[in-house]
Amino acid sequence: MIQKYVFGTPFETEAVTARIPETPGRPAYGKIGTEGGFSFEMPLGKEDIVYGLGENVRGINKRGYLYISNASDDPYHTEDKSSLYAAHNFLIVDGKRKVGFFFDYPGVIRFDVGYMDPDVLTVSGREADLTLYVMEGATAYEIVKEFRKIIGRSYIPPKFAFGFGQSRWGYKSQEDFFAVADGYRKNRLPLDMIYMDIDYMQDYKDFTFNREHFSDFPEFVKKMRERHIRVIPIIDGGVKIEEGYPVYEEGVKNNYFCKRADGSDFVAAVWPGYTHFPDFLNPAARRWFGRCYQTLTDAGVEGFWNDMNEPSIFYSKEGADRCRRAMEKYLSTSEEEYSIMEVQKELNALANDPRDYANFYHNVDGKMVCHEKVHNLFGYYMTRAAGEAMEELEPERRILFFSRSSYIGMHRYGGVWTGDNASWWSHLLLNLKMLPSLNMCGFLYIGADLGGFNNNTTRDLLLRWLALGVFTPLMRNHTAAGTRAQECCQFGDTEDFRHVLEVRYRLLPYIYSEYMKAALTDDLYFKPLSFVYPEDGFAPQAEDQLIIGNEIMIAPVYTQNARGRYVYLPEEMKFVKFLPDGSISEEILSAGHHYVEIALNEVPLFIRKGRCIPVADPAEYVEAVNPDTIRCIGYTGGTYELYDDDGVSREYDLETHVRVIGM
Ligand code: GLC
Repeated sequence: MIQKYVFGTPFETEAVTARIPETPGRPAYGKIGTEGGFSFEMPLGKEDIVYGLGENVRGINKRGYLYISNASDDPYHTEDKSSLYAAHNFLIVDGKRKVGFFFDYPGVIRFDVGYMDPDVLTVSGREADLTLYVMEGATAYEIVKEFRKIIGRSYIPPKFAFGFGQSRWGYKSQEDFFAVADGYRKNRLPLDMIYMDIDYMQDYKDFTFNREHFSDFPEFVKKMRERHIRVIPIIDGGVKIEEGYPVYEEGVKNNYFCKRADGSDFVAAVWPGYTHFPDFLNPAARRWFGRCYQTLTDAGVEGFWNDMNEPSIFYSKEGADRCRRAMEKYLSTSEEEYSIMEVQKELNALANDPRDYANFYHNVDGKMVCHEKVHNLFGYYMTRAAGEAMEELEPERRILFFSRSSYIGMHRYGGVWTGDNASWWSHLLLNLKMLPSLNMCGFLYIGADLGGFNNNTTRDLLLRWLALGVFTPLMRNHTAAGTRAQECCQFGDTEDFRHVLEVRYRLLPYIYSEYMKAALTDDLYFKPLSFVYPEDGFAPQAEDQLIIGNEIMIAPVYTQNARGRYVYLPEEMKFVKFLPDGSISEEILSAGHHYVEIALNEVPLFIRKGRCIPVADPAEYVEAVNPDTIRCIGYTGGTYELYDDDGVSREYDLETHVRVIGM
């Protein structure tokens, strides 16, 4: 049962697509305050688990910490942080009472989940304008499914996007990209995509490419396609200010950029230097920006990643002025009167300064809305711009989109990657724990920078991370400029990498099938164990293991020098390992705790009792996966409903695309 409560005059985020009548009065849960902002306070039972909150720090059970939905470009995802790039305001309290809440509020909102007081959940925002959805259900899993129904179907990417992709910030010219392609193809390492980071552009201008580095861009894209590789360019949230640059000029002329209170276009420095932010909340500007992607689709491009769309601000004009004034004051007064620390304070405050977010406006149907009130929608609406334009311009085929910043609602237009993680073992585990929470909020096409973005990776970390990435819909190796080379052919013997990547392609029929079923039935692809085994008292403790679909459990190794790991089986399962010689080992393990050996070059999974899954022969790219080689592994007598389609068109249909196979 879903109830909708409206407080004040909320901004219509269009996160929820279902028409739900407003319930009068106040929800039966929690104490609500609307004086001087919004507050919601609810006692938590001793045993209550709190699920949800999507992309976030910490574990699957969110209890015991403070989370703040405040889309932030912060590349240090350490445990002390409370905000990452997204705002996913859906959570479930699972105990004696089972209730879900979606706080549809696009400004900064705080979720104190037993942080100040271990037994109280407090949600608070500066304004008392929001829509609160309250959902009851028999289990937490039921509540998630109910919620997913009201927010609309999750985004479906083209099938090639389920292949493996290589990325690096620093590839510049077509020669660089061909060298990466060769590194993979010559070593017979599977690959479907190479990502193009900002250096492919002319001076970091969206929808351009560097003419010196690409003699003939469409020809370059075509040549890559002949190697069965798609190039996936990045698009950033800010448009460079430069006379003669058509995107800039059109934006200025038509008032498509965010404005200051005085009507001038707001200016913020990001990678290209000074930029304007397209006003994605203005439908005309959204349509215009979305259509700009056509410059690249016309050149043969079939997918994009949207970045810097929190929006990230390195500094604003106003911020630079504040620093200048502080510096002038410092120079013209004595150290005692005005310390150099004051200058440092201003310098430290430059990036993503809340004062800047309060200083520009969106034009929503003629009404000026201050950005800070709708801050968390920017990435959502940027990706919506692209998704809507492509639905119109490319009705026959799917285009790949994923974004860094997001709000619930964006899950209908694209996936997300989890931003600038680091080459740390702890981030492999963080990556694992985020997956089911993201799914609960509708985001199915998800993945982290495998191997880690910041810092230098190591061979073992990359191999272990890839062994998790084998199961994430988005499987991409990406790293920052200046870090150690991270392509799979850069670590000497490529044999181990080939093998791990091949497992992805062997499992592709299963991964694609489960993804499509989850998307088409508003279900989860990744589930916490406790959703599948609600009666099992230990299941909620096993946060480092996940269920995929209805058939398998994964338990990746995330510890340096480990030769295996402890694993908990809520029921008897078949322990399956894809071994480096291409064979598959299977061993029945009883319910309970086990230590299992897993070598660096092995990919483990567990098949649930009585079930089976399809595997194909290895392939070097998605189109080469041969359906005739599909066979089942698992329990004799098990059957599996295999979904497959052309992977390109927008015709998805469970009825006609499922066939039952078995062993
Ligand atoms: C941001 C992105 C990262 C990208 C870099 C350069 O940090 O999160 O993925 O490589 O910008 O574009």
